[in-house]
Amino acid sequence: MYKLTAKYYDKIYHFKYYKKESEKVRSLIKKYKKSDGNEMLDVACGTGGHIPYLKDKYDITGLDLDKDMLKEARKKLPGIKFVHGDMRTFQLKKKFDVIVCLFSAIAYMHTNAQLQKAIKNFSGHLKEGGLMIIEGFIPPKLFKPDLVHGIYFNEPDLKIFRATKATKKGNIMTMDFHILAADKKGVKYINEIHKAAMFEDKVFIDIMKKEGLKTICIKDGFMKGRSLFLGIKDKA
Ligand SMILES: C[S@@+](CC[C@H](N)C(=O)[O-])C[C@H]1O[C@@H](n2cnc3c(N)ncnc32)[C@H](O)[C@@H]1O
Repeated sequence: MYKLTAKYYDKIYHFKYYKKESEKVRSLIKKYKKSDGNEMLDVACGTGGHIPYLKDKYDITGLDLDKDMLKEARKKLPGIKFVHGDMRTFQLKKKFDVIVCLFSAIAYMHTNAQLQKAIKNFSGHLKEGGLMIIEGFIPPKLFKPDLVHGIYFNEPDLKIFRATKATKKGNIMTMDFHILAADKKGVKYINEIHKAAMFEDKVFIDIMKKEGLKTICIKDGFMKGRSLFLGIKDKA
C-alpha cells in the first residue's frame, strides 16, 4: 500500500499537528474513559506519529496492515510493541482501555459492511468502561471536484513534491499521488494510488450504537470536515 512511500511518509506529512492532536486525545480520554487501566491500541498506526506524545502515560501497542510503515515505526520508536494486522480481523487476545484509529485510516474500509466489521472488532478488544476514538474522513458533500493538491518538503539534502488530483465515484475518493523525491542519489518518480471511502457521520454513529457503544460525534475534530467518533463501552 505504502510500499514505495513509507520512508517518505513523515516528511510528506511534516505539517501535521501530531502533538496537538495527541493533547486532544488525552483530554478526551480523561473525560470519557471509565476503565482503570492505561493500555492503548493505535490501530492503523502507520509510522506511529501520535505515539511519542502519548507513550509517557499509556502502554501503547501499534497495529498496521502495511509492513513498510511498521518498519519505519519500529525504527523510530524502538521501545514500542508493533503488530502486523488488518483492522477487520486482528485478534490480540487481550483488551484495551483505549483504542484509537486516527488520520482517517478508517476510510480504507470501503463499504458499510467493512466499516462495521472493523468497529465490531475494535469493540471486541475494548475493556468495559473503555473508549474508542475514530477519526473519520470527509463526507461526500465536501468533495471538491476541481481541487488540485500539492505538498512540498524542503530540506538541504532531500526535496519531495507530491501533486494530487482526486476523483470521486460513488462514495469512493481515488487519490492519484504523483511524487518526485530528490536526494544525493538522484530523482525518483513514484505513482501511488489510494482509495478512501467518504461516509456520512450517521453511518458511523448507527454502526457504533448497534455495537452497543455510547456514541459521541465531534464535528471538525482535528481537521476541518472530519468528525471524531467516540465509542464508550459502558460498564455492565
Ligand atoms: C493515513 S495513514 C494514518 C497513519 C497514522 N494513524 C497517522 O496518523 O499518521 C493510514 C494507515 O492505515 C493503514 N491501513 C490501511 N488499511 C488498513 C487495514 N485494513 N488495517 C490496518 N491498517 C490499515 C495504512 O497502512 C496506513 O498506515
